Amino acid sequence: MRFVTPLAAGAAIWLCAALNGASAQDLNVLCGVDEDWCSTMETAFEAETGLEVAMERRSTGEILDQIRSERDNPHIDVWWGGTGDTHLQAAGEDLLETYTPAHGGDALPWAQNFFQMSGGKASGVYAGALGFAYNADILDARDISTPSCWKDLTDPRYRGLVLMANPKSSGTAFTVLATLIQLLGEEEAFAYLAALAHNIPEFTTSGAAPVKAAARGKTGIGISFIHDAVTQKLAGAPLVIVAPCEGTGYEIGAVSIVRGAKNLASAHRFVDFAMSPEGQATGAASGQNQIPSNARAALPPAAPDISLIRMVDYDFATFGSPDQRRKLLDRFDREVLQGTGSALTQ
Ligand code: G6P
Repeated sequence: MRFVTPLAAGAAIWLCAALNGASAQDLNVLCGVDEDWCSTMETAFEAETGLEVAMERRSTGEILDQIRSERDNPHIDVWWGGTGDTHLQAAGEDLLETYTPAHGGDALPWAQNFFQMSGGKASGVYAGALGFAYNADILDARDISTPSCWKDLTDPRYRGLVLMANPKSSGTAFTVLATLIQLLGEEEAFAYLAALAHNIPEFTTSGAAPVKAAARGKTGIGISFIHDAVTQKLAGAPLVIVAPCEGTGYEIGAVSIVRGAKNLASAHRFVDFAMSPEGQATGAASGQNQIPSNARAALPPAAPDISLIRMVDYDFATFGSPDQRRKLLDRFDREVLQGTGSALTQ
């Protein structure tokens, strides 16, 4: 009779796990915020709990697509960050677990409402307003006047000088789509976007890429969340940040647990931490400027004061529905991407 030593058995298990692509992590997280915040959060949570986390940054729509594709055998446990519309769409597709986090009672009213709206499946972590920012050096050098309204961005003087993301991958760009529809009505919003696309040489995958490109002088104007532009400006970029004159929309960034998550207890701990003042402080610690949802969390000193911005009464219920998402993305594809022949790039 042959015996397998414990060492050999351990090696065999490890080999099997490696061949199956299984990870030894205690928790698998897809992260929808900026890369810097993802890694600061990962380090802080690991230090707090001693758990080992595998975290990757993706854009919001990409996360939804991955969670959908893993519906019957989820690898991802937690989806942290990214725009709340899309977390609500996932809740509407029955892709998320119900969980009431610790610290939920300290959440500001907008986050409490969001949690109710999700049926207890997604918690609001932060908020931020949409806008755009232009590189003053680039527009000065071309001697073109500067924009202050959404309507200005379609002017031919900005041909090739505007960037925005693709709403299929980016929650930021989906918020642009939903905001314009709420400001202008659906027909006018799509006509506006088709006109705007003439000025956009490419649609980026990630929502912050446009203001990052404007900050580096790679484009003139980037449409993104205002807090992402603030982060670039604080780093020294010659950006002028605009809250559009017609008014604008906003996001509630969220955290949720994937239905059937294999590491459920660790997922609960992550969501609790994400909702705590300490967890939310990792945003400011990594140079981010969103407004935290926990009333006891410190506001980043440079966070935009959204009470001063003209804001639409954002309809999360409508734009968080899976049917709306499907319908609006199809229409964007037909009338804006294909209709204008715009390139789709990273
Ligand atoms: C940036 C912002 C976040 C936002 C996220 C959406 O990281 O700082 O507030 O939630 O973009 O990313 P996406 O690539 O999906 O537009």
